[in-house]
Amino acid sequence: MTKSIRKICCIGAGYVGGPTMAVFADKCHNLDVNVVDIDSEKIKNWNEDDLSKLPIYEPGLKEIIKRRRGINLHFSTDIKKNISSADMIFISVNTPTKKSGIGAGQASDLRWIEASSRQILEYAKGHTFVVEKSTLPVRTAETIKSILTCKKNNKKTFTILSNPEFLSEGNAIDDLNNPDRVLIGGQNEDDTKYLVEIYLNWIKREKIITTNLWSSELSKLVANAFLAQRVSSINSISALCEVTGAQIKDVSRAIGMDSRLGEKFLNAGPGFGGSCFKKDILNLVYISRHLGLYEVAEYWGKVIEINNWQQKRIFQTIVSKLFHTVSDKKIAILGFAFKANTNDTRETPALNICKWLIEEGAILNIYDPKVTSDQINNELIKVNISIRNKQKWNYKNNILDCAKETDAIIILTEWDEFRFINWSQISKVMREPSWLFDTRSISNLSKAKECGINVWTVGKNDI
Ligand code: UDX
Repeated sequence: MTKSIRKICCIGAGYVGGPTMAVFADKCHNLDVNVVDIDSEKIKNWNEDDLSKLPIYEPGLKEIIKRRRGINLHFSTDIKKNISSADMIFISVNTPTKKSGIGAGQASDLRWIEASSRQILEYAKGHTFVVEKSTLPVRTAETIKSILTCKKNNKKTFTILSNPEFLSEGNAIDDLNNPDRVLIGGQNEDDTKYLVEIYLNWIKREKIITTNLWSSELSKLVANAFLAQRVSSINSISALCEVTGAQIKDVSRAIGMDSRLGEKFLNAGPGFGGSCFKKDILNLVYISRHLGLYEVAEYWGKVIEINNWQQKRIFQTIVSKLFHTVSDKKIAILGFAFKANTNDTRETPALNICKWLIEEGAILNIYDPKVTSDQINNELIKVNISIRNKQKWNYKNNILDCAKETDAIIILTEWDEFRFINWSQISKVMREPSWLFDTRSISNLSKAKECGINVWTVGKNDI
């Protein structure tokens, strides 16, 4: 089969689909790239003239949109038209963890994958490459294949590929421009070569790995599981540091200099968040248990347990330091995103900590440089903190307003502006005795202390 790829369609204009396709369009001017979504509001925002209103905030993204949108990058709700004219279709829809039914709380909900596959079957023409881009349980390609080949004597033919995305939010454009590796899974070299050719426009051949479909699907789950495991490992040691004289930063540095371990992903904090880590480990746990590998399932399940425990113990420490009660106390929350440089709040550790504090009777002032009040409200509603509780939390537009009349400040996201807080100014607007709880270990603690603020940070007890 020979086919040249000219027209691409990506189903799903989210955190992966949007930036990935923007970079494809930027790097391959001969490709016509079309991103489609059923969510018309999202598409409208991608087409906004005012680039600060794009649905996703990623450094470098708006510059690409400005360069390529309307030229070889298009955002549309016309799924039918774009599928039928595409040579290659990326499926980049969301696959949340199932809330009910078989595998509830662990397995991924594949309804959007199935719906996309059915649309492809209906509208595609001739031979079409179908690429799984969403992170999926192992052997999902088989589901896609079963749907695409269900019609007898169908003149349409399909090649199925897996091309997991390893981009990390806040660094998406850089990760897409200079990835550590690109992974393409397919049945054979003939199948994978068309996608390899696209990547060769900006990535060296030795960085492009081709494997079979299942290895590709599993590698993505395992990469995220290993990264999350590192976070849980260092967080478990942070607790040990707090009850001994050791300091987590020194431990991280000392072990990170071992070239076998490496220095990345050794920052203790309030636990991992984001759309992938928890979901992917839950998938791994589910698959392992399903296949009778109970010890494997239990092993990976512990990574999530430690993550929940870290959030709980930070919350309990805060309550205990504030004389064992936060009832009617005002507390400033600095940061709601799951990490810095993103407006994403999925699985953010801030959510549990805020929920528990509100349930204990605290009144929260919340400030995040990129997360809106509506977004925080939507997240809190999901954990049963209803709009009726609005008086239990207020949205603030800057650090100073957020700190006013509070008993404590809790830093939950490592935004740069929280590193350089003017403690002398802040200490004057807080109620005494005032506290700083720095769950990210980014503040100048001795400065805060000098200004009369009591301080606590993760993984250190001698401050
Ligand atoms: C992750 C993977 O890195 C990426 O390859 C995959 O495609 C998607 O999932 P992302 O969710 O964007 O990316 O965030 P990442 O930067 O990996 O951080 C994940 C979480 O771990 C964050 O909550 C972060 O704060 C936390 N973390 C990370 C730590 O607590 N300590 C660290 O040292 C590193």
